[in-house]
Order: sequence, then structure tokens, then C-alpha cells
Amino acid sequence: MVYGIVLGSLLALFSTQVLASDALRLAEKKGCLGCHHVERSEVGPAWKEVAKKYSTHENAAHQLAGSILYGSMGNWGDRPMRGHAKKMNKDEALVLAEFIMGL
Ligand code: HEC
Repeated sequence: MVYGIVLGSLLALFSTQVLASDALRLAEKKGCLGCHHVERSEVGPAWKEVAKKYSTHENAAHQLAGSILYGSMGNWGDRPMRGHAKKMNKDEALVLAEFIMGL
């Protein structure tokens, strides 16, 4: 029983880590990392800051997926982010948004 619980949580830990690295790979493939860094702001805001800013918003991941797909402007400064709907589908945008909100 105890072993089952320990094994279960190890597996859960393992799968979230795999998901995070998958998401990061996706971000790299889609060119996000040319403007974003997890920890520091570059052209765009640091993704950890994004997670903090929207931590109290309901449906933050869906809202951010919208920004990723259709663009965002005025939330962080003068530079707008163009939408990426031509490069990815909604599911991919949601994977990235959920990854960011989980940081
Ligand atoms: C050409 C540079 C550039 C690229 C490429 C880019 N971003 Fe951004 N991103 C920005 C800028 C600039 C902002 C700030 C926009 C604003 O002030 O609303 C931003 C904002 C964001 C936000 C916050 C949006 C909000 O509603 O506050 C998220 C989330 C985000 N980017 C994710 C991504 C993801 C995921 C990718 C890859 C698919 C990506 N970005 C690619 C420049 C970029």
C-alpha cells in the first residue's frame, strides 16, 4: 500500500517533468525562446513573471493561449507580441500556456 503511494507519486513527478521538457522543446521549435526566457525578461516578459501576474486569474491558461495564438499588446510594455496561430494549433498553444502557468 505504502509502496503503491510512493510509486504513484514518483510516477506523477516523473510525468510532469517529462511534460515540462516537452513543452520547452515545443517552445523552442515554435521560436518562442528567441524572445522569451523562463527566468529573465528579454524581448518579451520572463515566463515566471507571466505566471505570477496571472496566478489569481481564473482560466489564466486559456487566456494566455489566446494571447499566444492571436497576439498580445499593452499587458507588459510597448512591444506587442504577434499572434502565432499560423504556426500552431489551439492544443499546442494551451500546452505552452499551461506550462507557463505551472512555472
Ligand atoms: C518576436 C518576439 C516574441 C516571440 C517570438 C514570442 N513572444 Fe511572447 N511576448 C512578446 C512580447 C513583446 C510580449 C508582451 C506583449 C504585451 O505587452 O502584451 C509577449 C507576451 C507573452 C505572453 C503574455 C501574454 C499576456 O496576455 O500577458 C505569453 C504567455 C507569451 N508571450 C508566450 C509566448 C509563446 C508561448 C511564444 C511562442 C509561441 C511566444 N510568446 C513568442 C514577444 C514575443
